[in-house]
Amino acid sequence: MIEDFDVGADWHVADPYPFLAGLRERAPVFRSEHLGAYVLTRYADVRAAYGDPRRFSSRGSLTISRSLTQETREKLGEHGSFLSSFVANVDPPDHTRLRRSVSRAFTPRAVAAMEQRFRQLNEDLLDRVAPRGRADFVSEIGHEPSVKLTARFIGVPAADEAFVQARVKDWFQLFLSPQPPRRQLELADGFLTYLDYVDRLVAARAKDPQDDFTSLMTALIGVELSHREVVELISTILLGGNDTVPNQLGNTVLRLLREGAWPVPPELVANASEECMRIDGASLGSFRYAAEDVSLHGVTIPRGALVLLSTDSAAHDGTVFPDPGRFVIDRPNAAEHLVFGYGIHFCVGAALGRLQLRTALEVLGGRLPGLRLAPGQDIAYRRSIVGRGLTSLLVEW
Ligand code: HEM
Repeated sequence: MIEDFDVGADWHVADPYPFLAGLRERAPVFRSEHLGAYVLTRYADVRAAYGDPRRFSSRGSLTISRSLTQETREKLGEHGSFLSSFVANVDPPDHTRLRRSVSRAFTPRAVAAMEQRFRQLNEDLLDRVAPRGRADFVSEIGHEPSVKLTARFIGVPAADEAFVQARVKDWFQLFLSPQPPRRQLELADGFLTYLDYVDRLVAARAKDPQDDFTSLMTALIGVELSHREVVELISTILLGGNDTVPNQLGNTVLRLLREGAWPVPPELVANASEECMRIDGASLGSFRYAAEDVSLHGVTIPRGALVLLSTDSAAHDGTVFPDPGRFVIDRPNAAEHLVFGYGIHFCVGAALGRLQLRTALEVLGGRLPGLRLAPGQDIAYRRSIVGRGLTSLLVEW
């Protein structure tokens, strides 16, 4: 009997790769009882599904927590289907319109302009932390520069950063991972407070525009975007910046330290960060719905079924990445990983994410060349089916 996905199981969170290799070989279209979804695991299939939004629909695919109780739903009211107009959660033609609006803020010039600020945020943090000689990389180093950069990009005042960071976590947990009923209600409270905050930020920028993402999007309300779309965009992009990049950085630093590849020589930083994204991606995949019956490798995925495109498995597909479990700092095609997705929903923040990873590795490598893992710690990941991030990472230098 073949095992199933199980985010509650230690083996699955720590090392799902032998299991995924078995699926690629023997059950490339796997029906997971645990996930209530079909899972595609081969690189070619995952990429083809991302590239075929007509058959693999994104509509409603992000709200994977279908376990909200009636009481929680009542509390959330009209926000119960939160994310229904978020760009990653809709199909064309709505997607085309939303994506065009969002992309205005992520021009290559706008992204490049953030490098200096991000470098400085890392330097400032290290000025404070470096003299201590030790830290928890996850809570004390990895998050702060990204959180501050994103807050500045969106237009969140410095005084509100901590509040926003905590509330973003509430909605992430509420909508993207199953929670017990009482916890749902607590999280719903935090989430509603957060929505109210974003609403007020939008209203403030409508009156008095600034040089930030919120002002740019607010100006499009009634022209290209609805009020709800703008609120969902802003609240979700805050998550993109607050969580995914720091998770990827933590995974990356752990990998480099374990492989004895620290500090990374400057000329290898770009490829090393791609190889780390490939082998230890912060995003494990994306969900889609089959818009029609889809036959693949002798299995029919019925119309309406949920499908997980496992980019984590695709990144370990030996037909594309030879000897996939081995870290190869100069692997020629490392950047072909699908950690940012592929096709029309390809991560709009990919260039910004890459820039942050490279810059952080450069600054950290220069300032803490003697970085090493603190002895005797247990390495643990958060339990999630869509993301991989460490709960803590104790380091010394
Ligand atoms: C290493 C960091 C990141 C990873 C691994 C990542 C991963 C992804 C993935 C896999 C998708 C595709 C979702 C799908 O097809 O269903 C996506 C889309 C998206 N990402 Fe990221 N992301 C990262 C950083 C960011 C950042 C920094 C931002 C913004 C500041 C961002 C904003 C978005 C948005 C708005 C979309 C939706 C695009 C669309 O649907 O057209 N991401 N991301």
